Amino acid sequence: MSAADWPMAELEAQLASVLPGCRAEHLAEVDSTNTELMRRARSGVAGPVLLVADRQTAGRGRMGRSWQSAIGAADPASLTFSLGLPLAPKEWSGLSLAVGVALADCLDPDGRASVSLKWPNDLWVEGRKLGGILVETASSAQGGQGNARERHVVIGAGINIAKRPGDGMRTPPACVHEWQPQATAPEVLLSLAAPLLRSVLEFAEAGFGPLAERFARRDALRGHEVALSDGRTGRCEGVGPGGELRVRTGDGVQAITSAEVSVRPSESRANFS
Ligand code: BTN
Repeated sequence: MSAADWPMAELEAQLASVLPGCRAEHLAEVDSTNTELMRRARSGVAGPVLLVADRQTAGRGRMGRSWQSAIGAADPASLTFSLGLPLAPKEWSGLSLAVGVALADCLDPDGRASVSLKWPNDLWVEGRKLGGILVETASSAQGGQGNARERHVVIGAGINIAKRPGDGMRTPPACVHEWQPQATAPEVLLSLAAPLLRSVLEFAEAGFGPLAERFARRDALRGHEVALSDGRTGRCEGVGPGGELRVRTGDGVQAITSAEVSVRPSESRANFS
């Protein structure tokens, strides 16, 4: 796929209608769209931009994991992009959940594809991973222009578009082609970029609270027994107003803000992380 196959002008026009000055950029290959936008932010290039790449040679996931793109495919089998912008939300907690809600609602507006959200930031279809979100921040290049809360945020998303080998994973990933067989990565990006940006700006104004109900409708963990990476186990009771995962353990309900969570094997068709 060449740059000409990506609707960059249309994409930029849509983004700029939500946030004036927001740009859209395509690269055939980059180490990681998140790494690239974090590099730019740290070197002072911090205007709002969406960067999409056909291929990432060092894509990154959460908790130091790598994110594999389908290298060598004629069309990208996965959509990999990052949105970078200065942001000054009252509270940062819940941002990745807000991003998940925005992406899931765009990919599956009527819920028929059963796209669910696995706290904190995985997109699932029937327990198989459809995509992942990686949110990172750097101190703002402009020093916040008087706003001490402002930071530069980079929101990366990887979404499987077409079927690909399981890459050695225990459960083969889900892909958009399961319910939209003709969808291409550029079309999917065009459908979700502006709504995603709008949701991020709304989050900055109002936090996660107004999105909690939409998250709850897609919550993949609610009611399930889970194991936390610190060894605790319990039953998920949903997500609180700040985006924290509520897990009932032997010691009462715990508010989990950062941990790896897996569905306990007895509760699921497979163990996911
Ligand atoms: C995860 O599942 O742990 C998060 C995966 C995030 C992958 C996306 S792909 C675009 C952006 N660039 C990266 O290196 N990572 C994110």
